[in-house]
Amino acid sequence: MKKVQFTETVLRDASQSLIATRLPYSKMEPILETMNKAGYYSAEVWGGATFDVCLRFLNEDPWERLRKIREHMPDTKLQMLLRGQNILGYKHYPDDIVRRFVRCSVKNGIDIIRIFDALNDINNLKVAVEEAVNSGAMASAAISYTISPVHTLEKYVSMVKELAAMGVGSICIKDMAGILTPQNAYDLVAAIKDAVDLPVVMHTHCTTGLAFMTYLKGIEAGADVIDTAISPFSGGTSQPATETLYYTLREMGYDTGLDEDSINKMADYFKPIRAGYLADGTLNPVSLTTDTRCLTYQIPGGMLSNLLSQLKSLNASDKFEEALVETPKVREDMGFPPLVTPTSQLIGTQAVQNVLAGERYKNVGAELKAYCRGEYGRTPAPINPEIRDKILAGEKPLEVRYADTLPTDTFEKAQEKLGDTARCEEDVLSYIAFPQVAESFFEKRREAEEKVVRYTITEA
Ligand code: CO
Repeated sequence: MKKVQFTETVLRDASQSLIATRLPYSKMEPILETMNKAGYYSAEVWGGATFDVCLRFLNEDPWERLRKIREHMPDTKLQMLLRGQNILGYKHYPDDIVRRFVRCSVKNGIDIIRIFDALNDINNLKVAVEEAVNSGAMASAAISYTISPVHTLEKYVSMVKELAAMGVGSICIKDMAGILTPQNAYDLVAAIKDAVDLPVVMHTHCTTGLAFMTYLKGIEAGADVIDTAISPFSGGTSQPATETLYYTLREMGYDTGLDEDSINKMADYFKPIRAGYLADGTLNPVSLTTDTRCLTYQIPGGMLSNLLSQLKSLNASDKFEEALVETPKVREDMGFPPLVTPTSQLIGTQAVQNVLAGERYKNVGAELKAYCRGEYGRTPAPINPEIRDKILAGEKPLEVRYADTLPTDTFEKAQEKLGDTARCEEDVLSYIAFPQVAESFFEKRREAEEKVVRYTITEA
């Protein structure tokens, strides 16, 4: 029997896409045991924005959350999303920090680490992949899917071959913007399956309405795993619904490994939770609609709304069409980066600047300068040399990998600064990833414990 397996995203990407990751652990716990028995290939439960949001908004220790999920889901592979050399943020970290973070993630319960880079620069994936493999986890390397004249099938295939040689356990096609069309999915999956002997995982979002069709065509070409979200947290900017694909694939004769009763129980559990977020405004109905504009403009939907709001705040809404035309030009000048955070912001902001100034690259932000220096990694195509020289104004681009220029005592310095506040390696890593947020979390943690102590003493 043909086999296709599922990765459930409700606890990470689906909540991140629909409710800005505001799902606290208390709302997960009651359903974890059911999810554990549902027969998923894996459950994506950690990484991405969950870490920051735990500390910043939910007053939760992300590491503790991971350990608790692990405890309640002993039979399911737990998966996280890691931004390569950027770990969970947008700046580059030194190699030893990346390695420590990967080791601690595995130690606290992660089985599969999906690793990606916004520019698809292998140099930004290498250290994390190597450490994941050394720690006994599976490194799943993702290609950030985008469309451009330089993003050919051949280019993706050669990237995949390099990744395979690094020892990754699977290849993920990561379509952040939902622009992977069914036919392109078929061709891409077929080409990857042809080139390497690794499972292919498909990841997309329903943003443009293509997702279900894209998965079906990808499966026809041999995709092994698909990312889906239980129905109450599916659709719109999230993944397609788990149950819908389960029924479809079962009818077509695929073995999905899923237990119908468990996934239905999960749907019933999450229905009122979704209703609550709709009622309090956390879930904005706009994120549930189908938006096909990025199929026309090749610009992700989120980036379009950013462009519009940037122009609005500058009282220049009338320049929207001009900015739309300028955006792909800036992207071409910058070597066709995939439009995903943070490159989407860099390109969008510069397009707005160019249009407003009436002169291209007259005003350039510090981030784009850093990008031109090479701090984000190697671009898919070379940056237009004339424009790069104008932006760098005499400064030389980096000749080595940016992470190699970073200090090597980041961990020790952070440890020293935190003193007793940090109780374990994980605390230090939380601080390195999000310094202010982690510090105020540690402070709240201490206050809460003091309260408990005082309370206990009074009781006694
Ligand atoms: Co995603």
